[in-house]
Amino acid sequence: MSKLYSYGKQTIEKDDIDAVTEVLKSDWLTQGPKIPEFEEKLSKKFNAKFVSAVANGTAGLHLIGMASGWNENDIIITSPITFLASANCILYSGATPDFVDINPVTYTLDLQKLEEKILIYKENKKAVKAVIAVDYAGLPCDWKKLRELADKYEFQLVNDNCHALGAEYENDPCYAVKFADVVNLSFHPVKHLTTGEGGAVLTNDEKVDEKIKILRTHGITKDSKYLEKNDGPWYYEMHQLGFNYRITDFQCALGLSQLKKLDKFIKSRKKIAKYYDKEFSNDHRFVIPKVDENLKHAYHLYPLQIKFDILKIIKKHFFQKMHENNIGLQVHYIPVHTQPYYKNNFGFKDGDFPIAEEFYKNEVSIPIYPLLENDDLEYIVSTIKQLAK
Ligand SMILES: Cc1ncc(COP(=O)(O)O)c(C=O)c1O
Repeated sequence: MSKLYSYGKQTIEKDDIDAVTEVLKSDWLTQGPKIPEFEEKLSKKFNAKFVSAVANGTAGLHLIGMASGWNENDIIITSPITFLASANCILYSGATPDFVDINPVTYTLDLQKLEEKILIYKENKKAVKAVIAVDYAGLPCDWKKLRELADKYEFQLVNDNCHALGAEYENDPCYAVKFADVVNLSFHPVKHLTTGEGGAVLTNDEKVDEKIKILRTHGITKDSKYLEKNDGPWYYEMHQLGFNYRITDFQCALGLSQLKKLDKFIKSRKKIAKYYDKEFSNDHRFVIPKVDENLKHAYHLYPLQIKFDILKIIKKHFFQKMHENNIGLQVHYIPVHTQPYYKNNFGFKDGDFPIAEEFYKNEVSIPIYPLLENDDLEYIVSTIKQLAK
């Protein structure tokens, strides 16, 4: 078998290439019409009043913090089982990061522990400014409960939805914007649809969106309501320090073409997950991801837990052997609080979030992307079963 597999991979077809080529031949490579067109389509698809496409998902999170006014007096909570960017965006604003352990079944924030933590802060006369909940692997959190908590304790609710494009909560594919105050997406190639690098911020809050649109382009505004004077048609002003976090037109052309196929991509990810579920359930060596019946998983990842403590092979060797068989795996994630930077600067230590740490020991992200066919899946499953001894 000479094919190489990885945990995730983009699907680029002729229509995608044609869409990008058309823009490359046009007058606008960046700051042109494809950006608002892509934003408009995302806005319709996910029922968001406002959408800002940006350079990548990390930039989107940074801008969310800036537009929301996070600062060094704030405490912001996220999950330890997420990509670094979900927590790093807290640090960009100078705010204090904190974590809440995951639920052992859903792998998303444990909401009982979240409330307990908020109450401890309250007893100490401190308030939580925002919670960044992550729909890990593509499985929506309990968003009704999160909204309830956000209203009760008056914190901002951010959905880091980078894994869950195309997921559903109570049959609603637009749940992200419905429940959270602001939503972040990534279009990295391993995600459900790609623009190469890219991301978007979705919200119904006009003020947040307006700030994001200014901050993504250096903090520049030409809007007469903000200008202190106006020297002429070239004139602009900067009132706040922003960044160049713009996405290009040819990336948005790719995004537009990919967005048309999102439902098809999700369907095929679901089919692969169903096959893995069947193959790995009822085998005491494995734990498959569980999905509550009111949720639709978008399967950005297929996080398989392998009980290495009952096997002879250790995780490191399992990875090496899989690699020798041309199957590249990944682990999502090394718990963020155990990173040296977080330990050294914020005092987190091993053992702080035991469920996340236990999950890390067992979790292996196995290949899931639309290009995988039945014989690929058979090969992947049989290799895993053979090596997990
Ligand atoms: C949960 C989560 N948040 C944020 C990001 C950052 O997105 P990007 O890679 O587009 O900067 C990622 C990327 O993998 C992610 O998985």
